[in-house]
Amino acid sequence: MSCPHCQGAEKVFDVSTARGDLEDYRQNGPAKTTQLLLDAIRRATKNGLTLIDIGGGVGAIQHELMGSAVESAVHVDASTAYLGASQEEAGKRGHRERVNYIHGNFVELAPEIEEADIVTLDRVLCCYPDMPALVNASTSHARQVYAIVYPRDTWWMRLGGRAMNLWFWVRRNPFRFFVHPASAVDKAIRANGLTPRYHQNSGMWQVAVYGR
Ligand SMILES: C[S@@+](CC[C@H](N)C(=O)[O-])C[C@H]1O[C@@H](n2cnc3c(N)ncnc32)[C@H](O)[C@@H]1O
Repeated sequence: MSCPHCQGAEKVFDVSTARGDLEDYRQNGPAKTTQLLLDAIRRATKNGLTLIDIGGGVGAIQHELMGSAVESAVHVDASTAYLGASQEEAGKRGHRERVNYIHGNFVELAPEIEEADIVTLDRVLCCYPDMPALVNASTSHARQVYAIVYPRDTWWMRLGGRAMNLWFWVRRNPFRFFVHPASAVDKAIRANGLTPRYHQNSGMWQVAVYGR
C-alpha cells in the first residue's frame, strides 16, 4: 500500500481493535447503521448476487447476507487485522470458501477487481482523503446496488473530526477522519449512473442506498 493514510489505518484498526469488534459483533450483531444498510439492501435486491465489501471490518455485511442475497463476496481492506477477524468468523459460519480476501487500498486495486452486483462501504469514506477517487472507483464496480454509510455533514461532526485528527497528529499517525460534504458525495455517486433508493440519518451517520 503506497498511501501513508492506509498505512495509518493498519495501526488504528489493529489486532486488539479487530478482536474487540469481533467479540462485539458476536454478542450484539451488526451496528445499528449496518443493520439499516442490510435491510435496505435486502429490499433492493434478489438472492444469489455477488458483493464487494470495501473496508468490511469484521465482515458483518458479508456474514449477514451470505446464503441469501449474496452467493459470493470479495472483501478488500486496508487492515490486515480486520481481514483476519473476518476470515475467522467466515470459517466459523462455513462460508470462508465463498469470500476472496484482498489486502490493500481499493483505489489502487480497483483495476484488478471484477465488478459485482452489490458494492458496500460501511463507515469507510470517512477514512479516505480523496473522496472522488474512492467514490469513482467503487461506484464503477457496482452493477446493481451501491450501499454506503458515511458521516453526517454537520458542524458537530466536523468539530469531532478535528478533535480526533488532533489525537492522531499527537500520536504521529498519518490516519485522519474526514467529513466529506454530503452534497458532493451524492453528486459523485449520481454522476456514475446511480439513483437514490433509500436515505436515513442515524446519530453520527447517514445510510444511503443507490441503484441502477
Ligand atoms: C471504521 S472501519 C469500518 C469497518 C466496518 N465496515 C464497520 O462499519 O464496522 C474502516 C475500514 O475501512 C478500511 N479502509 C479505509 N480506507 C480503505 C481503502 N482505501 N481501501 C480499503 N479499505 C479501506 C479500514 O481498513 C477499515 O477496515
